[in-house]
Amino acid sequence: MSFEVAAVRRQFPILSAAIDGKPVHYLDNGASAQTPEAVLDAVRTYETTARANVLRGVHRLAERATEAYENARAEVAGFLSVAPDEVVFTGGCTAAINLVAFSYGSLLQAGDRIILSELEHHSNIVPWQLLRQRHGVEIDVIPVTVAGRIDLNALPRLLTERTKLISLAHVSNVTGALLDVHAVVTLARTVGAKVMLDGAQRIPHGPVDVPALGVDFYVFAGHKAYGPNGIGALWARPEHLAAMPPFHGGGSMIGRVTFAETTWAEPPRRFEAGTPPIGPAIGLGAACTWMRGLDWKGAHAHEMALVERVMDGLQKIDGAQLFGPPGLQSRYPVVSFTLDGVHPHDVAQTLDSFGVAVRAGHHCCQPLMDRFDLDGTTRVSLAPYNDESDIDALLTGVEHAARMLR
Ligand code: ALA
Repeated sequence: MSFEVAAVRRQFPILSAAIDGKPVHYLDNGASAQTPEAVLDAVRTYETTARANVLRGVHRLAERATEAYENARAEVAGFLSVAPDEVVFTGGCTAAINLVAFSYGSLLQAGDRIILSELEHHSNIVPWQLLRQRHGVEIDVIPVTVAGRIDLNALPRLLTERTKLISLAHVSNVTGALLDVHAVVTLARTVGAKVMLDGAQRIPHGPVDVPALGVDFYVFAGHKAYGPNGIGALWARPEHLAAMPPFHGGGSMIGRVTFAETTWAEPPRRFEAGTPPIGPAIGLGAACTWMRGLDWKGAHAHEMALVERVMDGLQKIDGAQLFGPPGLQSRYPVVSFTLDGVHPHDVAQTLDSFGVAVRAGHHCCQPLMDRFDLDGTTRVSLAPYNDESDIDALLTGVEHAARMLR
């Protein structure tokens, strides 16, 4: 197995399409990645040969659907090196965090403390604020360094006997900084706190050995990981899942229902009320299998060579300011920048006229923007299918914006 970008690109139909007569230079993978044929085929096979509800019917289609759905869970579990019944399908990464905040959060007491960081996505802030309103927990915040990393030197003084959970981004969606998980877990254990990682920006860049990380909860989204929309996953240690009450009530998540009392199904079904997103789950399973088939050593080297090309190119453009870790160490392929005197939305719109898709704005990280006193940044986020032509189109577009808009 070796990495060849052209062979990867061929598997993504949208990359060879001309959309509105323009090439697709897709550099907005942090918001949503593109989907390979293998995922489209898996969903189509379900829809055309096995479409039925799961875990309910005894007819052939229902059995095929259930088998495909549970196979998908095993594919996701394999990607994380965990057991299938420790994986809960959710509506996405946000839904998975809300599930933990609601359900695990209900086991916490008023006055218990949760630690977040200043670079968290709103999806890893707001569910905890809702828990604070409901339950009286307190939130502590780890600051961010000038290089856009979570400042772990500040963590020890935030830890108390009341700290029950530390929930952090594995990789920042704005700066690309990789978290030192080992340091966080080691410190957390000194007070018996649990650790949750938001893996939304890490999972699209290769398998994660979750048990080796030593964390308690891990969540991610399907659509950023080459899978469909409307699906995500939560992994939790089995003892946590066993202790957690349901989040949603409905079909499938029960043991026995009477008007007097209802008992719960065992995890993971306890957390999958109602008809799940079956096709998307099957697509996510296929995406995990597709990702497992990539040479990630080669893919990561390729991605980081492109990051270097982006950073070198931007540094030569008058008025461009890079934001985030200055080097390539301990980071993933996300680069944020500003262009002096030009709003990030105007940069992104100019880039769109060159066929280049990026995200601009606060990236659902307003506290991080406040920390750096910024309205927003323009963000380039890469996937293994990006190539030099994407970066060259990006740099041409930014040079144009710098000339025309400043
Ligand atoms: N969380 C996604 C992003 O960073 C939407 O763009």
